[in-house]
Amino acid sequence: MSKRRRLVVANWKMYGRLTSGCVLARDVADLAEAARPLNFDLVICPPATLTWAVGEAILGTPVALGGQDCHWVTHGAFTGDISAAMFVDLGCKYIILGHSERRHGHGESSEEICKKVEAAQLAGLTVILCVGETAAELESGSTADIIEKQLRESLPQNVKTANLVIAYEPVWAIGTGQQPAPEDVVTVHKLIRKILGEIGETVRVLYGGSVSPANAASILSETEVDGVLVGSASLNADGFWAIAQNCQ
Ligand code: 13P
Repeated sequence: MSKRRRLVVANWKMYGRLTSGCVLARDVADLAEAARPLNFDLVICPPATLTWAVGEAILGTPVALGGQDCHWVTHGAFTGDISAAMFVDLGCKYIILGHSERRHGHGESSEEICKKVEAAQLAGLTVILCVGETAAELESGSTADIIEKQLRESLPQNVKTANLVIAYEPVWAIGTGQQPAPEDVVTVHKLIRKILGEIGETVRVLYGGSVSPANAASILSETEVDGVLVGSASLNADGFWAIAQNCQ
């Protein structure tokens, strides 16, 4: 078992409508309630449109609320953006930043992500910072360089260790059913801790990418893995709970 309290995060991405999202959140919350006290932290990050409703559905339960991305300024003329403080208003405790679907899908740079990390922590959110190599980078043997570069460039000088989680999400493993071998995940997690230096021992490092009820036990049997960031398998309450059970 990991030395740090484990963390299981649902990233619903752009899935869920008002009714289905609330039912899913409530089902997860019911399972978590029945298992009290939880030995790990559990978070749901719904699409921004459902933040308030999901927050209401999980209120008073062991499930915490998170956002999927935020802007780095508190307010302004930024059509379509949402600030960290706005997520705090909605009851969020966590925010996912630097996800590959933002880095690669929206061309976000590590410099921009760094500003987001700083702003989100300042607003009181715990940042789940994602890093990970593409298939081409894996093949060219540059995984370690990419992880180091993304980490160094995405973390502000004044980063608050207590409000920081790193998620190692190989881009090629997201939504593909493919995964690195557990020992390869461990190698990257150890590298992340080394790059983090002094704070590396306390910061939780998660794995994400095609985590499912079928493979979660093997990933979470590694003490280096402090939890998981789950995409598609988090859209089913029983499946998500089966994954989380490996931390109980
Ligand atoms: P999948 O679990 O669907 O592969 O998604 C992983 C992910 O991107 C979580 O942030």
